[in-house]
This record gives sequence, C-alpha cells and structure tokens, in this order.
Amino acid sequence: MKAVVQEEYGSLDALEVREVEKPAPGDDEVLVRVRAASVHPDVWHVVSGHPYVLRLMGAGFFKPKNPIPGTDMAGVVEAVGKNATQFQPGDEVFGETIGSMQWINGGAYAEYVTAAEECLALKPANVTFEQAASVPTSGYIALLNLAEVGQLGPGQEVLVNGAGGGVGALALQIAKAQGARVTAVDSTKKLDLLRELGADQVIDYTREDFTKRGDRYDLIFDIPGNYPFSECRRALSPDGKYILIGHEKFGESGKRTLGLIPHFFKLMFLSLFVKQLPKPNFSMPSKKDTMVVFRELLEAGKITPVIDRTYPLSEASEAIRYLMEGEPQGRVVITP
Ligand SMILES: NC(=O)c1ccc[n+]([C@@H]2O[C@H](COP(=O)([O-])OP(=O)(O)OC[C@H]3O[C@@H](n4cnc5c(N)ncnc54)[C@H](OP(=O)(O)O)[C@@H]3O)[C@@H](O)[C@H]2O)c1
Repeated sequence: MKAVVQEEYGSLDALEVREVEKPAPGDDEVLVRVRAASVHPDVWHVVSGHPYVLRLMGAGFFKPKNPIPGTDMAGVVEAVGKNATQFQPGDEVFGETIGSMQWINGGAYAEYVTAAEECLALKPANVTFEQAASVPTSGYIALLNLAEVGQLGPGQEVLVNGAGGGVGALALQIAKAQGARVTAVDSTKKLDLLRELGADQVIDYTREDFTKRGDRYDLIFDIPGNYPFSECRRALSPDGKYILIGHEKFGESGKRTLGLIPHFFKLMFLSLFVKQLPKPNFSMPSKKDTMVVFRELLEAGKITPVIDRTYPLSEASEAIRYLMEGEPQGRVVITP
C-alpha cells in the first residue's frame, strides 16, 4: 500500500510517500481502508520531534517508532481480528488509531491502517468521511476538559478563546449543545465561521482584549493561552472556572524541551489555593465512551465539522504546513 513515511524527526520536507507492507489487524483490531485522515497540531509535534520530551513518552527516542504519521481517520472496514466483534467488513467507521493520549505516530496517513475496535465508532450517514476524520482527537480534548467543570447548562456564560481552531470549534459546539451561551474569540477572518458554528457573541482578538471588556464568564476555555491566568481571572465570575488547553504555535513558543508541561504543573499547584482552577483529575473517559458521544452529536447535527481543504497523500507535508501557516478556516484533511 501507499503511505507517508517519516524516517527521522525534523523537517516536513522529509515526509515522502512510499510503498510499504499493508498492516494486518491484531486479534482485537480492525483493518480500515482509509478514506480521510485529519491534520492536527500533534501530528506536527511528532514529525518535528518537539518538544524533546515526547521522545521519552513513547514516540521513539532516536527516530519515530512508527514511521507513518496520523492518528485520526475515517474509512471502510476491510477485515477484522479474531476477537473483534463490533464491526464487519464494509462498515463505515471513524476514530483514532492510537488508544493513548500521547504524542505518537498512528499510521493513519496511509491507504490502510489498523485500529483497536474500542477506538472506533460507526460513521453517521449524515457526515462525510472528511468531517468524521476531523473529530476524534480534538473532540476528545474538548470533551475531556469541558467535563472538568461538569455539565454546562442554560444561563451559563462560556468564553472559548481560539474558537476557530480544531479543539475550539468543537468546544464551542459542545458547550452550545449543553445549553450554554458562548462567546467565541478568534481572528477577524474566522468570525463568520464562529457565528455559523453557533456562537452567541464573537470577539476579534486582533482588535480587542477579552480580559478588559468587563464581562464575566462561568467558564473560560482557553486554547492559545496568550494571557496569563492572572489577567484571565478578571473576566471570570467568582465561581467561574479557567481551563487551559495550551498551544505551542508549532515551535514559536520556544519551549523545545518540555513544552508547556511546566506551565501545567504550575496551574495544578495553584489549583490547591485558587478555586477558579479545577483540581487535577486523572480519571479519563474511555475512547470507546467518547466515540459513542461523538457519533450521537454528529448524527443529531449538534456538531458539524467544517473542512477547509483536503490534500492527497503525496502532499501531506503541504497539508501540515497549511495548518501551521495558512490560518485555515476549518479542518485540513488528507485523502489517500
Ligand atoms: N486538534 C487536535 O486534534 C489536537 C490533538 C491533540 C492536542 N491538541 C492540542 O490542542 C491545542 C489546540 O489545538 P487546535 O487543533 O485547536 O489548534 P489550532 O487549530 O491551531 O487552533 C488554534 C486557534 O487559536 C487561534 N488563536 C491564535 N492566537 C490567538 C489569540 N491570541 N487569541 C485567540 N485565538 C488565537 C488560532 O487562530 P489564528 O491562527 O487564525 O490566529 C486558531 O484558530 C494544541 O496545543 C494542540 O497541540 C490538539
């Protein structure tokens, strides 16, 4: 089969399409013929090998253990392992090819990939393969972090900073689906997209600083983390919560060794004294449960992924570069 191959960490230009052996499903896995695989910042992390700590976290010390990038995909089941009972050849599925929440390659930028069946769900008929492939990892991050503050509801004011990106667009829509009123912050050209996604109010970060408007929110869901917590706090109600996702801006943050990990430890420490920071919670929902939630949300039309551009497998490096530099309005997807 054809696959994008990454022999070493470093430049996007080193990615190339090669003929490699088609994988065989393990006992609990299914083999999927990939129809679409999405591009997200964690793909860049593993291709570049930054921050360095990811090499100690399972990605591979000197070079990637799995040479084929990509983790989120949608496609058609080709074969199933002997213990896999949920799916049959011909089923249209979407999901992740890695079971953990790690910076590792998952093999999705290929014509075929294997995945644990618990990381997959049937693709709803009302969404395309491209749309379905864009949801799993960014949706998991959005759902996991929104769950930190419990179920949102009518009357609650939520601000999503960076709402036009992969995680933000889903956080916005999930918060709306739960009944909250959402203020979405992003750059000028994404404001129409944010309105389309259901934002009640939009703020252009190039013109206005949301921390100085005098408005108060029950939740600030902060993706870029461009203001310190002390400034975001001005925009929180007394019982409001602040959640940081963090974004290394494809290396621009300069945190090449540990990334944002020290900053998260600082917030975890502060959470012992500041009630607006949720206490660390190490219980994570299973991928299986979250895939069921995504399927339901997609099927009900409560989340609608927007695709900006698709690229063929042979242009995977251009696709990642476009995510980094092109300010996409919606998701970037690779179609083998
Ligand atoms: N998406 C995933 O599947 C995924 C998976 C694992 C981890 N993550 C992590 O989650 C984080 C976010 O990922 P993402 O996919 O949402 O990234 P993204 O698609 O790059 O989105 C970031 C958004 O923030 C906006 N932004 C940049 N500067 C801003 C500012 N000063 N104020 C407000 N908005 C600003 C960007 O807009 P402009 O660039 O147009 O300014 C963009 O719309 C990353 O750290 C990533 O590593 C994401």
